[in-house]
Amino acid sequence: KSTVVESGLLQYFCQFLPRSSPPCLPGPPSLFLIGNMMELTHEHLPIHLTDLAQRYGNIYRLKCGNTTMVVLNSSEVIREALVKKWSDFAGRPASYTGDIVSGGGHTISLGDYNEEWRAHRRLVHSALQRCCQKSLHDVIERQALHLREVLMDYQGSAVDLSEDFTVAASNVITTLVFGKKYEKSSSELQKLHGCLNEIVALWGSPWISALDSFPLLRKLPNPVFARLLKEVAKRDEIIREHLNNYKSQDNKNEDAITGSLLQGLDKHHNTDHRVCLTDIHVHMATVDLLIGGTETTAALLNWTVAFLLHRPEVQGKVYDELCTVLEGRYPKYSDRHRLPVLCALINEVLRLRPVAPLAVPHRAIRDSSIAGYFIPKNTVIIPNLFGAHRDPAVWSDPSSFKPERFLEGGGNSTRALLPFGGGARLCLGESVAKMELFLFTAYLLRDFHFIPPESEASLPDLRGVASVVLKVKSYTVTARPRPVTNP
Ligand code: HEM
Repeated sequence: KSTVVESGLLQYFCQFLPRSSPPCLPGPPSLFLIGNMMELTHEHLPIHLTDLAQRYGNIYRLKCGNTTMVVLNSSEVIREALVKKWSDFAGRPASYTGDIVSGGGHTISLGDYNEEWRAHRRLVHSALQRCCQKSLHDVIERQALHLREVLMDYQGSAVDLSEDFTVAASNVITTLVFGKKYEKSSSELQKLHGCLNEIVALWGSPWISALDSFPLLRKLPNPVFARLLKEVAKRDEIIREHLNNYKSQDNKNEDAITGSLLQGLDKHHNTDHRVCLTDIHVHMATVDLLIGGTETTAALLNWTVAFLLHRPEVQGKVYDELCTVLEGRYPKYSDRHRLPVLCALINEVLRLRPVAPLAVPHRAIRDSSIAGYFIPKNTVIIPNLFGAHRDPAVWSDPSSFKPERFLEGGGNSTRALLPFGGGARLCLGESVAKMELFLFTAYLLRDFHFIPPESEASLPDLRGVASVVLKVKSYTVTARPRPVTNP
């Protein structure tokens, strides 16, 4: 009994002792009014934030107006926030322009964490899973063969393949979302994709992001913002029309995600009365999937070819592996465990060029901590995946393209790879993207030898252009057909 009394007394007196306050987050000096705004306008933001990590460490803060941002630069601190403490950091910061492109925060990617968002994400996740199990492999195979035809038609001339990769990725996601009928992308859908790309590009422009930080600017005429509004209206009109068309069909294709979502909506209304999901959720989920599923995968394929031009012997090793293991046939996704050199190539490209280099900003939904630092509610968290993937404490010679690091016992380091983020906000299309990257890369490298057009001088510039998606600067390449191998 006395020990209980003693510990009670100890607790009572301890509350009067001076507490050691948690350490302050390091960061560059913040200027009056604008804070560290200038740091955020850097041309290649992921590289700049990674450079700052060398000075301030794996976790540091930046100020922007009233907002404090915390940048995380190692997979350890990113995992702590996104995976271990996911429920503290699953929010998204509210923004004026984000609200406009997400139909009032109704997309999954920009919607804040709450009951409605969870029900929405569950609905889309199960529709995506159902549809992928039924048709994803076939859809990708058909598009990979179509891409092969397109490359064959170039007859060995030097071309920029970025548009072809975009069309291939866009056809996969459009077919999944709207059904087989739309497999050969209709002109209407091409218009939709053009419009979505324009929205992403405009939204990444400083003319638009300035409106979030400086509300007074919203009163001034802004032609870039006017264009954004026009494109959003166009996008919504096209999607609304597609959904209405779909609903009016007699023979609805339940394999398409749209069908599955609408069906799931009915089921949801019958079983869950706490949150109300409506057509707007189906509409905005369509936007999420079409945007998330096109430029990311296409950019990664383009990076893969660019890196291979710099290290042709890697291309030779992948080709030899494909020939030996597959004996002439085309690969299936289930072959991936027997194709370690190909998988190492894909992992290395995802490591060096995570195409969503700063993920999507998170928001602390309650007071919490990361790496021992106090993080107050509403702090914006920037997971710098680009920086984490070149952390010298994890990766030797981190800036070099070396797929071999994932072979010969290096497989363990895949834990430090976070190209799809993690936790509650893990990329919704991770499994779609992984299958696409595997099959497209395997088909391309089985059938073509990629060579630079003329001389070493024309090798692609590997620094990249960073916006929402990290893309390689445009380059040309010759896709020389490999000799036909009979299975
Ligand atoms: C979110 C990466 C392909 C749909 C994300 C995030 C990353 C990412 C880093 C942010 C995670 C976070 O906030 O912590 C990638 C990469 C891809 C890819 C590297 C391809 C190589 C796709 C595809 C789809 C997709 C194919 C759709 C089919 C989404 C959606 C979100 C998202 C909807 C928002 C998730 C949420 O906020 O809960 N992706 N992605 N992504 N991605 Fe992907």
